[in-house]
Amino acid sequence: MPKISLSPSEKSGIPVAGMPRAVLFDAYGTLFDVYSVALLAEQMFPGKGQALSVLWRDKQIEYTRLVTTSKRGPAQESVYRPFWELTRAALVYAIKRIAAPTPAALAQMEGQIDRLMNQYRHLSAFPENRSVLSELKARGIPTGILSNGDAAMLGLAVKSAGLDGLLDHVISVDPIRKYKTDPAAYALGEQATGLSARQIVFVSSNAWDALAATWYGYQTLWVNRYQLPFEELGTQPTRSGSTLRDVLDFFPSPPPERSLTP
Ligand code: LAC
Repeated sequence: MPKISLSPSEKSGIPVAGMPRAVLFDAYGTLFDVYSVALLAEQMFPGKGQALSVLWRDKQIEYTRLVTTSKRGPAQESVYRPFWELTRAALVYAIKRIAAPTPAALAQMEGQIDRLMNQYRHLSAFPENRSVLSELKARGIPTGILSNGDAAMLGLAVKSAGLDGLLDHVISVDPIRKYKTDPAAYALGEQATGLSARQIVFVSSNAWDALAATWYGYQTLWVNRYQLPFEELGTQPTRSGSTLRDVLDFFPSPPPERSLTP
């Protein structure tokens, strides 16, 4: 048997890939801080704001999976609902579960629910976003968002975070009525950029999203902002980092031009 020598990346199981030609970012949790709503939630539900915002987020993601993988009745009708609606439904669930209001008290909470939803519309952005996007732009790398959010939510979030003009694509899954981690959702990134997934870095702070994008075929960066373990399903992201800045390591700066004159 001839001896085949493997490169370090082949040995590690990470596919060999050239320098990527574009970067796509997940939105919520990656560019926009979804737990920033915890402060407002804490004012409304003292001692429970953190728990409420974590459950709100988990429920929101659970609902995206439910409506993507389920159908209604013999006609197999879609049960899809836009991300904004699922986010509101998840918030009502989280309030019921964490604050256990009576039906009469819940009916009085419309104003609070609206305020929290409004806060979600204008989430804080992570502080390094602008400089990282500007650096990618300066290096000629096209960038975009590939998100479960619907177009109106994403448009507002990008604007309130001051990121307009720094992104070439803002891609919502809404037109295909399927959420990540459905492969059709990840395919939208290839369609928008005209590149194959292997030529794109997909960046997410959500481990499940980084995992599914890796399975789909993207080069991936998992931005592990909270020192969490990665998913235990046998596949690792291409790279891990702790802030968005780590995406720049995929694009080594060109060596300084050498002068030809002595
Ligand atoms: C998104 C959510 C999943 O932006 O974070 O797609």
